[in-house]
Amino acid sequence: MNGEGIGFGKAILFNEHFVVYGVPAIVSAIGKYTVAKAQSFEEPRLHLIDNRNATPRYKEDKKDQQKDSVRRIIEKMDLNFSDEGVEVELAGTLYAASGIGASAASCVAMARALSECFQLDLTDEEINQIAYEGEKGYHGTPSGIDNTASTFGGLIWFEKKEDPVMDRIDIMNPVEIVMGNTGKVADTTAAVAGVRNRKESQSDKYAEIFKRAENIAYLAKQAFIDEDLHEIGKLMNENHKLLQQIEVSSKELDFLVRLAKDYGAYGAKLTGGGLGGNMIALTPGRKLQDEVANAIEKEGFQTLKTSIGVKRQGGL
Ligand code: MEV
Repeated sequence: MNGEGIGFGKAILFNEHFVVYGVPAIVSAIGKYTVAKAQSFEEPRLHLIDNRNATPRYKEDKKDQQKDSVRRIIEKMDLNFSDEGVEVELAGTLYAASGIGASAASCVAMARALSECFQLDLTDEEINQIAYEGEKGYHGTPSGIDNTASTFGGLIWFEKKEDPVMDRIDIMNPVEIVMGNTGKVADTTAAVAGVRNRKESQSDKYAEIFKRAENIAYLAKQAFIDEDLHEIGKLMNENHKLLQQIEVSSKELDFLVRLAKDYGAYGAKLTGGGLGGNMIALTPGRKLQDEVANAIEKEGFQTLKTSIGVKRQGGL
């Protein structure tokens, strides 16, 4: 009895937070992923070994949320360990940090590994549903964007609805990006709750910002179709300003965004829940990618050089 599965990390290119309220968003899987391996365990329970490399404090801070998430996954999959327990080990190339889909990737990988282990033969759609349930352990009321990117890979137009919209955006080749890690572990639940409170108390101001965010999503989709990377970068910059206005940026995120742009990134913004975590810079070509990453590293921050538009391939 054993099984193995992966879940991609992700980068939200447009409209994190706004997506929670049904505004369209664009997300991409990145070329790093979490691998889960499941095998039998002597005690009648799920025993988790988390061997992912992680930002300091990430695992400690997320421990309770992870427990809740695993419990939800087990419940959703209707597993019981009365006959035999299972040990799940998490590892892989994705660094566990805020903003890069670490929680979603672990839920997807775990659901896939358990599906194989218990010979459930689940479809990607079912895996996505289970991971969505697992995500609730980490962020209460997730929009579903992270688990969707983590399950299906590629570049995705996403709208949260009763029946969520997931449309693929096809691009010819993956595009290089740099992700810069502030090193701060952020609590997505708190970030989402903060936006909710401010949206209620400043409804006129927020209505305008949300309208522009929606606009940006459509313009960005067209820019992807036109393969206009400069326009995509410009729109990312504008999206970051909106995220600043809804108060989910931080001084470290703003610093890294500025730095990336100074070193030639086509555009840069925070990515994911904000208030720490990661930013993303659009850096087409290896040379620009290296230059921006080096500049960020020189300031003492960790980077991840990867690409957007990475599809799931045979073997993965
Ligand atoms: C977190 O990666 C993205 C948020 O929009 C929350 C969500 O969509 O569930 C902040």
